[in-house]
Amino acid sequence: MSNAVTTMEKIVALCKRRGFIFQSSEIYGGVRGFWDYGPLGVELKRNIKETWWRDMVTGHDPTLAPPDAPSTFDMVGLESTIIMDPKVWKASGHYDLFYDMFVDCKTCKGRFRADHVATSECPRKPSKRPGEHTECELTEPREFNLMFKSYVGALIDPTAEAYLRPETAQGMFVNFKNVLSTSRVKVPVGIAQIGKSFRNEITPRNFTFRSREFEQMEMEFFCSPETSQEWYTYWRDRRVEWYVSLGLKSDNLRLREHGPNERAHYSCGTADIEYAYPFLPDGEFGELEGVSHRGDFDLRSHMEGKLIRDGDDLVVERDEHGQPKHPGSGKDLSYFDDATQTKYIPHVIEPAGGVGRTALALLCEAYDEDAIPDEKGKPQERVVLRLHPRVAPVKAAIFPLVKKDGQPELAAEVYRGLKKRWHVFYDEKGSIGKRYRRQDESGTPFCITVDHQTTEDETVTLRDRDTTEQTRVKIADLESIVAERIGG
Ligand code: GAP
Repeated sequence: MSNAVTTMEKIVALCKRRGFIFQSSEIYGGVRGFWDYGPLGVELKRNIKETWWRDMVTGHDPTLAPPDAPSTFDMVGLESTIIMDPKVWKASGHYDLFYDMFVDCKTCKGRFRADHVATSECPRKPSKRPGEHTECELTEPREFNLMFKSYVGALIDPTAEAYLRPETAQGMFVNFKNVLSTSRVKVPVGIAQIGKSFRNEITPRNFTFRSREFEQMEMEFFCSPETSQEWYTYWRDRRVEWYVSLGLKSDNLRLREHGPNERAHYSCGTADIEYAYPFLPDGEFGELEGVSHRGDFDLRSHMEGKLIRDGDDLVVERDEHGQPKHPGSGKDLSYFDDATQTKYIPHVIEPAGGVGRTALALLCEAYDEDAIPDEKGKPQERVVLRLHPRVAPVKAAIFPLVKKDGQPELAAEVYRGLKKRWHVFYDEKGSIGKRYRRQDESGTPFCITVDHQTTEDETVTLRDRDTTEQTRVKIADLESIVAERIGG
């Protein structure tokens, strides 16, 4: 490994060069805050999502309490819609409260998040901050709701207004009763969802970190009030372990418990899992995932109406006629616990992560530069993405050493065999060194080469991306060796 400094410029350039991430609508000049994932990027994201889903849902065993869990529990998945009844966002508080403060510059018409002015560039003079140029004229901070508005149906009037969801979480809350009454699951139970969310961020920035369209991996865990603190600790620590298992190292990853003044008004505890993204100054970390103890806020809001804090209590916000300002559904979302013969409104623990932020952290962590000898033993600099094999877009690349002597045919056979199980790649173009380096930059953990010896003894070379070490293995053993190294 080298001591090369990973910069955002290098990450952005690699993502473009290798087809991980492109600016959306780039040929028309691009649209800020929107990103397209190219052939390698889409595989990386799919692998992240599949790993999360396996860890959360399909790999979960409800008959066995995982290590450190307070008890056994159930876990199911859900896919809810992006557009929901606008009453959902009114009762949840997003309609009134999901805003950032912004300032406009009357001169250049630039718009900045009030808390980002100190780190933003003046569009007229990028060496200065907004407000520092003699011609800048900034307005007072104002509120800006981050939800994208749309219309449902043919009429464009206020009764048809709808919003693109700013989080997937509300889908789980409003389906709590549906899931419980149809799935034979019991509290404690988690409902997991992966899906797109949209936020009209005032200043999207730092590559994909703050996007306007992004994917979330959220799980709402419903439990009894008495056990909720234990479950909060459990999920907080388990989520950190998941990131570590994908290769994020502890010195770049940290868990930060929020102080009481930093938490949302409904939160009984929040911790951020943070990563030292390279766009941040040394020693600073950015949010990768938030884990929150949300109490009974969500289910109560959807029963009674939008809640506000009144001292230690959460109470329904009322209008001038004493009616709920934003009524809930009026449906009973409480739970009767057969085991304890008690009825309660479940408390919720929510680990909420971003697919794009995980992909970005994994790319930053994996980026490395070193020098390896070429065919003549001369050191050649290379860029290598040391991605964990489970998330690597392509698991193995298969090459014939030369394009003759039956080697392409044999290599294609090996390729087809492995393709039944994994996303693998066949390449016969260019020198073998160049082919290796292309795969190193793409994060492919294994390269398999068919050479003259293959025709004699049915063996191939298996090259490890990180060490560049090559071992000779039998074609018949390839699948099991690769499976073992990928870990599944
Ligand atoms: N339901 C709770 C919730 O949405 P959040 O902290 O606002 O909580 C959860 O979002 C995760 O979603 C964040 O930790 C981050 O990974 C991702 N995320 C949020 N806003 C984002 C944005 N503008 N661009 C990319 N990812 C974002």
